[in-house]
Amino acid sequence: MQNNMMLGVDVGGSGIKGGLVNIETGEMIGERFRLETPKPSHPDAVAEVFSKVIEHFEWTDVIGCGFPSVVKNGVTYTAANIDKGWIGVNAAEILSEACGQEVFVRNDADLAGLAELTFGVGKEHQNGVVLLITIGSGLGSALFINGHMVPNTEFGHLYLKGQDSIAEHYAADSARKREDLSWKAWGNRFNEYLEHINFLFSPNLIILGGGASKKFAKYKEQLKVKTKVIPASLLNSAGIIGAAYFAHQNKQRLATAAE
Ligand code: BGC
Repeated sequence: MQNNMMLGVDVGGSGIKGGLVNIETGEMIGERFRLETPKPSHPDAVAEVFSKVIEHFEWTDVIGCGFPSVVKNGVTYTAANIDKGWIGVNAAEILSEACGQEVFVRNDADLAGLAELTFGVGKEHQNGVVLLITIGSGLGSALFINGHMVPNTEFGHLYLKGQDSIAEHYAADSARKREDLSWKAWGNRFNEYLEHINFLFSPNLIILGGGASKKFAKYKEQLKVKTKVIPASLLNSAGIIGAAYFAHQNKQRLATAAE
C-alpha cells in the first residue's frame, strides 16, 4: 500500500461509493466502486454494505467517510435522505466496528468542499466567502471563510417557498427527476434558490458540485445570480476525494498526538 494513498467513501441516499485517492495530488487511483444504498437504509444495513465497499479495496488503514447528515464528533444528528435510525447514533463507531478499521465521518458536502478547496477549482479561492452547493438527492452545502470551513451549514434546508417547503424539496436534482422538469425549468428554480442564498450570505464565489454539476451547460443560462457560479472540477468524485483527504488529516493528527 503506497503511503500517499487513502480510501474515501461517500455514503449517499442512493449509492455508497468508495475510491482510492492520491492525497498529494487529489487524483483518484483506479476505478470507484459503488453499491446501492440499502432500502431501508438503517444503520446495520448501511454498515454491512459499507464493509463490502472496504473489502472490495482490501483496505487495512483508517478510512474517511462523507455522510448526508449533520455530523459532530462522529455522531450523526439528522437524516433527511437516509433512515431516521441514524439520528443521534455514533456513525463513526458503527462503521468502524462493521469494517474493523477506524472510520472518520463528516458531512458529505463539507468533505466535497474540502476536496474542491484543496485540489479543485476552489484552490485558487482561499480568500473571502466561498460556498459549495452539492446537487443530488438533497442539496448539501459547505461554507468556507478565507479557506476555513464552517461545518454542518445545511443550507439545503433553508425555507424557500413558504413554511412547507425546504429548498431541497423544490430545487434538488431529485425534484427535477420527481417532477420530470426540463433542465431549463429546473435551472430557473435552482436560480431562485441561489438568489436567496446569495442574498443571505453574499459569497464571493459559488461552486456547484454533486451529480448535476456534470450537466452545468444545460442550465447555466438560467443562473442569473450576480455572483460568480462555477461547476466543481472534481465533479461527483469530490465527496470521495474529500473523505480520503479527511482520513489522511486525522491519521496525521493522531500520529502527531502520539509523538
Ligand atoms: C442533508 C445534508 C447533506 C445533503 C447532501 C441533505 O438532505 O441534510 O446533510 O449534506 O443532503 O447529501
